[in-house]
Amino acid sequence: MKYSTLLFSSLVLSLSLNAQNDTKETSVKIGENVSAALIQKLGGQLKEQMTKNGPLAALGFCNASAQILTTEISNTTNYKVKRVTLLERNPQNRANAQESAILSAWQEKLKEAQPLPSYEIHSQGNMDHYYQPLIINNEACLKCHGNIDSQSELGRAIKAAYPNDHAMGYKMGDLRGMIVVDIPVER
Ligand code: HEC
Repeated sequence: MKYSTLLFSSLVLSLSLNAQNDTKETSVKIGENVSAALIQKLGGQLKEQMTKNGPLAALGFCNASAQILTTEISNTTNYKVKRVTLLERNPQNRANAQESAILSAWQEKLKEAQPLPSYEIHSQGNMDHYYQPLIINNEACLKCHGNIDSQSELGRAIKAAYPNDHAMGYKMGDLRGMIVVDIPVER
């Protein structure tokens, strides 16, 4: 290869690598913003329900509105967003194989007392997948995801709405699941 060709191709290479870095940075920003919007919407309304009306009413709110509000965020931002987990309450939120592998790796990290990344990006064809861990970081989460007496009013209401619930028995600091944002990219 002639020197000038070599120079040219390394220039092209570095330009395209830069373009890829830009894309990745953009995807991270989008992922962070969409996740923040979802957390604000769901978390804000959940908190309001919990303080105003108590856990039983808040359960009804989650049951009726969590999926609708998540779809609303997808529609207003134009990026598909969802919450997924290894131990689901709503079967619609069960992680697929690829998502399960990431959650399991994070779970291993927690077991070894290693910090979790604040996000991960996985690129696949013309799609960047943004993953953000959701930790049980508030005692309020345990009201509906901790150890709940199955005979209590709340325990029975959970069982009635979600007969195959797997989302109990968590403690503070546990990995509850993650937010996934799908970001189409041009490469
Ligand atoms: C008032 C009860 C209640 C509280 C409090 C609550 N959740 Fe949930 N959570 C639910 C219900 C009900 C669902 C299922 C919603 C649905 O049908 O999509 C759910 C689903 C989830 C999911 C989706 C995965 C799944 O299992 O279906 C995540 C993630 C989650 N909760 C995290 C949290 C975190 C983190 C907190 C604390 C900030 C929290 N929850 C507090 C009731 C609650």
